[in-house]
Amino acid sequence: MPQPVPNSPGHTAILAAVGRALDADAPDSILNDHMARDLAGAAGEAIIAGLKSQTTPEGVASFGTVFALRGRLVEDEVARAAGEGIDQYVDLGAGLDSFAYRRGQTTAATRVFEVDRPGAQAWKEARLADLGIATPANTIYVPVDFEEDSLADRLSKAGFDANSRAVVSWIAVIQYIGAKAIDATLGFVSTLPAGTRLVMTYVVPPATLTDLEQQGLKWTMSQAEARGEPFLTMLTPDEVEALLRRHGFAEVEHFAPADLLARFIPGRKVQLPRIERMVIATS
Ligand SMILES: C[S@@+](CC[C@H](N)C(=O)[O-])C[C@H]1O[C@@H](n2cnc3c(N)ncnc32)[C@H](O)[C@@H]1O
Repeated sequence: MPQPVPNSPGHTAILAAVGRALDADAPDSILNDHMARDLAGAAGEAIIAGLKSQTTPEGVASFGTVFALRGRLVEDEVARAAGEGIDQYVDLGAGLDSFAYRRGQTTAATRVFEVDRPGAQAWKEARLADLGIATPANTIYVPVDFEEDSLADRLSKAGFDANSRAVVSWIAVIQYIGAKAIDATLGFVSTLPAGTRLVMTYVVPPATLTDLEQQGLKWTMSQAEARGEPFLTMLTPDEVEALLRRHGFAEVEHFAPADLLARFIPGRKVQLPRIERMVIATS
């Protein structure tokens, strides 16, 4: 089976940055991630050209909207938490996320721990340096493979305070890892003080989707697998609820794509696939 290309951000992280870049081009941008396009680089440009030549303008708008909405839910949650004195943000599987470099003003007192595979992280640091984007003093890179490493140990060594509340995001990652690593990570997050929040996405099983959505999901899965990022975990909302409750989360708020659209940009007329859903779980 193909493995992710070593010392690369991974195809799916570039795809996500492309989605945010397309949103940033819209006059009514949801996220305003103006760094995404540069971070995605030449590989991102090739994806954008392919999308624009093979997809309708509505399809391109839908693609950008999906990625911007999930970023917005996380970023608003981190800003809200900062207002409540939660000053640690852990971005699990950060990919080419640029929150730390764009939102430094709003979260100046928040320490941002970017967690990712060592090779992906090294690539990103080099790319940021090439682009002349400085890493703010409050941003700490923590190389972790969820399948192999202890997240608790690595975060502790990086200066994370496990006795203080945090916002933890896990966006577009759990589909790529197995049940044991998911349990280990949730197990750690659930040990953090009450009031800690987890913002997470997950992919639903194909059987719960329309034929058209199933085709889209199967295509996405085949593309990811060919590039060494096979889908290992898909869950129904009930299974996610049960998983988070089993790990002791007291409140679980569920979001379908339509809920996010209604919250952040109700006037936008766009069809969103229901492949991926989100939760905010509070311990
Ligand atoms: C689809 S990308 C999402 C990136 C980012 N969260 C976003 O939404 O743009 C998946 C991310 O998960 C990371 N990832 C996948 N498997 C991992 C593992 N076993 N350990 C650590 N990171 C992993 C990848 O390196 C990549 O950055």
